[in-house]
Order: sequence, then structure tokens, then C-alpha cells
Amino acid sequence: MTVLAKHAQGKGGPDKIFHISGLAKARAKEVGKENITNATIGAFLDASGNLITMKTVEESLRSLPFHESANYAPIAGLPEYAEAAADAVFRDCRPEGFIRGVATPGGTGSIRNTIKNYLEDGQACVTSDYHWAAYKNICYELNRQLVTFRTFNAEGGFNIEGCFEKLAGCAQEQENVVLMLNTPANNPTGFSVTLDEWKIIVERLTAIANNGTNNVILLVDTAYIDYAGPGSREFFKLFSNLPKNFLVIVAFSMSKSHTMYGYRSGCMLCVTSDEEEAEAFVKANQFSARATWSNCNHAGQLVLIDFYKNPEKKAAFLAEQEELRLSLLRRAELFMAEAKEVQLPTCPFESGFFITVPTVKAPEVAAELRKEDIFLIPLGEGASAGLRVAICAIPEEKISGLARKIKAAMERVG
Ligand SMILES: Cc1ncc(COP(=O)(O)O)c(C=O)c1O
Repeated sequence: MTVLAKHAQGKGGPDKIFHISGLAKARAKEVGKENITNATIGAFLDASGNLITMKTVEESLRSLPFHESANYAPIAGLPEYAEAAADAVFRDCRPEGFIRGVATPGGTGSIRNTIKNYLEDGQACVTSDYHWAAYKNICYELNRQLVTFRTFNAEGGFNIEGCFEKLAGCAQEQENVVLMLNTPANNPTGFSVTLDEWKIIVERLTAIANNGTNNVILLVDTAYIDYAGPGSREFFKLFSNLPKNFLVIVAFSMSKSHTMYGYRSGCMLCVTSDEEEAEAFVKANQFSARATWSNCNHAGQLVLIDFYKNPEKKAAFLAEQEELRLSLLRRAELFMAEAKEVQLPTCPFESGFFITVPTVKAPEVAAELRKEDIFLIPLGEGASAGLRVAICAIPEEKISGLARKIKAAMERVG
């Protein structure tokens, strides 16, 4: 019995990631954290298991006058914040068009507002079957549907055909066709849509926008973009001069890029060739902000503006960020080389916090590995099931031998 309203009943329940990460923590208490491999956490940790934080960010934060950062920020964010966010995410690949931003609590806020404000009740948005689990929860919370397609085609490329099949289905049912892609450095696979694939995607989305019936909304979730390699921003330029009814929303997050996970700072940026559409974007999303979280963290915005306005600080920040990217890449290369050697299958990986080992028996293999004090997250169902290896959370010395152990556990499970 509960007094919860009907729509809230049955929500929640045990969270798989927190549950397994809880098992790892309990085991670490018993045998010492140096004796377990806890690859469950979606945060970049050092060899001692502590959160990696950036000195340049910490210095900027500490320099903020408390009376300023403790004060409310404007609902849409500080006036210079959207510009600083656009600069941080697009860098030298800024698309042409009207670019406006509304501050959000992390990337989550952008996803929430997009699903709320660009879909009607009960309508669906489309994403890849390997996706961040919160996408589904946000849709459920807002009474929207999440429709998925197989992420990869037979050649291991992005499954454009599968994606457009689902979009065509949506286009039949609803005026707004909403595609949500987490790339580059996808969670949980580490895949990135290539520039050539992007060209086809934008071309085909443009055709939908020009069909006289539908509008197109493309949400690009860039939560991990700063861990992707050089050249991974080129696709932004393809968002220039799109039809007026083709709106691009870029979800910018400072959680991973600035190691400011708990500061809940982000920005939803629109790119459109229609100034009125850009104004409507700001108005509606500012309203939603007011009606849900109100204003966002002020300190995070001030840090971003600090870097934006001070070239020396920005250069030092970017250099520090690059070091982090390279150290994460070393972990990935180590795992992928061993996986290749022992013939452990992985999803196509380019960069990012996670590597996924596809297996329909993910829960069984994860349980088998826990016997050896290796903790991984089993994800998805059916064809999109797999084990998520959070390389961000384990040091190089614990990565060595891991692919071999996963392969052996898979063979034991059969
Ligand atoms: C794919 C993806 N998108 C967005 C986010 C949002 O993170 P935040 O709200 O902390 O910026 C995450 C966080 O784990 C993520 O994995």
C-alpha cells in the first residue's frame, strides 16, 4: 500500500549500477580496495580510486568571491555563460546559424527539457540501443516513449539504415521527429559517429524536414566530447544553414569535461537558421527551468566564464584536459590490445569512459567475474546486452589481464 499518485507507483526500485557498485564497496571493505577491480563507476578515478579533479578548475573555483557564487544565477544562466558554453563545445567548428543557450543542471537537464518541450505526451524519441540508461527513465518520467535501433551495422559502423527505419516510423505517427545521439565517445560503448556517417545522417534528416509534414529535432549529447580525439568536432559544421524546421540541440556538460560532476553545470545550446525558433527555444526552456530546478549552479558558470575570458587560464585548462584524455586513452589501448590478443569481442570503440563487451549472458558473466572480485555492470537486453567496463575507474595495472579474465569467465558460463 502506498499513498503515491498512480503514475508514481512502481517507479524506482533497485538501481543496477548502484547495487553492483555497492557490492564492490562492501567487498573492498572486507579485503581492501587494492584487491578488487571495481569497474562500475562512471567517473574518472586515479590509481588510488580517488576522483581525478583538475587543478585549473579548482584554482578558478577557489578564486570566486563567495558572495557572488553563493548568489542566485539568472534562470537562463549568466549572460556570457551560453557564449562560453558554445565556445567550449564547438571550439573551432562552430556551425553557422542562430546559437542560443539556456543553463541546465549538467547534460541531464538538456535531455529532460528536449524530451519535454519537443514531444507531445505519449510521443517517442529515437536513440541507439546501446544508450545511457537515464534516457529511458527521463522519457518514462515525462510520459514519453524511447524507441531504439541496433547501434551497429554488420560492418561495425553506425547503423544508419536501422536509425532511419525507426525515424520513418515516428514520422508517420507524429509531427516532430526527435533523434537523440550520444556521440562522440558514447556511453556505454565508446563508439563515435564518423564524419562521413554524419554527412549522411544530416542529409537524410534534412530530407525528412523538407517532406512538408515533419519537423526534425536532433539532440547531440556531448557529455564525453573532450575525451574524444582530434577532429571529433568537425561534424558540428554540418549543422550550418539547415532548413528552418530542423533544430539542433547540443547538450553541453561540465561534469566530465571539467571534472565538476557535483556542480551540476551544463547548457542546452540550439543551432538553427531561424531566429524566431531560437527565441522560442530560449523562452520555453527557460520556463521549464523555472518550473523544475529554477536556476542552476552559479559557481560552475563563473568558472566557465573565467576560462572564456582569460586566454592564459583557458590554455592551461585545455592542456590539463588533454593530459587526462591521453591518460584515459592509454587505459583503453591497453584493454583493447589485450582483447584483440585473446579474441574477446568488444563493441566498436573509439574513445571515452567505457568499453562494452557484447554478450547475451551479461548478468551471468558479471556474476562469474564477481567470484574473482571483478565488478562490471551488465547492461541492456537481448541483442544490446553487454558488460560495461568502466576503464575510467580502474588504473592501468588493473586493466592488464582484465580482458583475459573476462574472456575466461565468458567461456566458463558458455
Ligand atoms: C551519455 C550521458 N549523457 C549525459 C550525462 C549527463 O551527465 P550530467 O548530468 O552529470 O552532466 C551522462 C552522465 O553520466 C552520460 O553518461
